[in-house]
This record gives sequence, C-alpha cells and structure tokens, in this order.
Amino acid sequence: MRIDVYPLPDMAYDLPLDGIAIAIDQLRATTTITTALANGARRVIPFETVDQALQAKSALQATHCASELILGGEREGKLIPGFDLDNSPCAYTRERVQDKTLLFTTTNGTRTILACRGVVLLASFVNLDAVVRRVLAEDRELLSILCAGTGGNFTEEDLLVAGALVERISRAKESVDLNVQAEVSSEQWRVASERPLVESLRASLGGRNLRRIGLDADVVFSSNLNAFDVVAEFRVGEVRLEQSFTA
Ligand code: MLT
Repeated sequence: MRIDVYPLPDMAYDLPLDGIAIAIDQLRATTTITTALANGARRVIPFETVDQALQAKSALQATHCASELILGGEREGKLIPGFDLDNSPCAYTRERVQDKTLLFTTTNGTRTILACRGVVLLASFVNLDAVVRRVLAEDRELLSILCAGTGGNFTEEDLLVAGALVERISRAKESVDLNVQAEVSSEQWRVASERPLVESLRASLGGRNLRRIGLDADVVFSSNLNAFDVVAEFRVGEVRLEQSFTA
C-alpha cells in the first residue's frame, strides 16, 4: 500500500478513482459532520459557497418540508447570516439534527471533501479508529489523505490526524510506502501523542483561531478521541454514514 499525505487540498491532483481519499478538517468541519451523522442526521450535502447552499435549500423545498432542512457552516469561524447553525460540533445534537438533511458550507473543509476522488471518507480524532478499520477493510493500493489547512496555510491539527492515521495503518500493514509528508506527519503525531490531545489542539493554528473567538469548548469537544464508532462517506454528492448506503 502507498500512503500520500497532502497538507493542502490543492497539492493533490489526478487522484485515481480506484483509491481511497480521506478528507480532514479537524477544526472543525470533519469533526462536525461526523458528529451530526452520529447523532442521526440523514445526510450532509457539502457546498463550496454560501450561494450554492442557499440555492439548494430553495430547490429542495419543492420536495422536503422546510423543517427537514438545516443550513449549517461558517465564514470566519462564525454563523453565516440566514443560516440555522454555525460550525460548532457541540451544536449538532441529536435533538437538533435527527433525520434532518444538512446543507453545509465551510471555508476550507467542504472544499476539501469536494476535491476528493474514489472512496471518499471523512476523518477526525472523534472517529479515528473507525476510519482506520474501514481503510484496512477496503484493502486498496493507494490512500490519499487531504488536509484542509486554513486559508492556504498548513495546520498542525489536520496533520496530526493524518499522522495518527499513517501510524495506525502502517502498524497494521505488512509493507507501506509513504510520501515525505506522510513520514513527517507520522513523526509529528508520535511526538504530540506524548501529551494530552487537547493541549496539542489548543496550540495548533486552528485551535488558536477558535480560542481567539471564544470557542475553546469546540477544541475540547474535538479532542474526544474515538467518541464515535462511525465513518462518514461522501458519495454521489452527499455525506452519509457508510451503512446507510445499503438501505
Ligand atoms: C473550515 O472549513 O475552514 C473550518 O471548518 C473552519 C472553522 O471551523 O471555523
């Protein structure tokens, strides 16, 4: 198996359709989407722009009642005017999202999901081991891990998730080839894993940005390793829990 880590989505191109691609936006898009689906949301439809999400809501209202549709996401970390929920994973409770369709757009995370090809999974610390198990079960030749970064800059929190995936998958496989970023992120994870995860996330670029706008609770929530035993998968324009596709 070969594992390539891309610190930014734009660094990955020509992803093959027969590989696995994992999107990571640890703070907070992939944590939030995973939380929403684990709490019973029917599906999450990711959009690159706010206008696309609003237009999709108008179109879907022809076939869905308005209360089934939730607009969620952020710009500059905050609630988008006219949206129902921001990008805080803490807001996506079962009471709020059960059986709902989420129309979701964030600055970097949803773009990253949309850049993936092949079997597309979403990862974050809240479902790390479930993603590892799914990758091992798929048994494909190529795994590409795309980190969202922020505004074109690498972010440590995404690379730590990537490194943790690389470390766990490499341990389980007989032979694995890694690109340089996969090696570096795995080493960063090895060092970081010696201290509490929440501290590493607080010190990361995304963590500092969230704390600056008073959202330390989201950093704490996102450090809840393996809180959910589910894997969100993006297919035909929607993110769902993998088992939903058999229904
Ligand atoms: C993003 O997509 O850039 C992030 O999810 C940002 C955030 O959570 O504020």
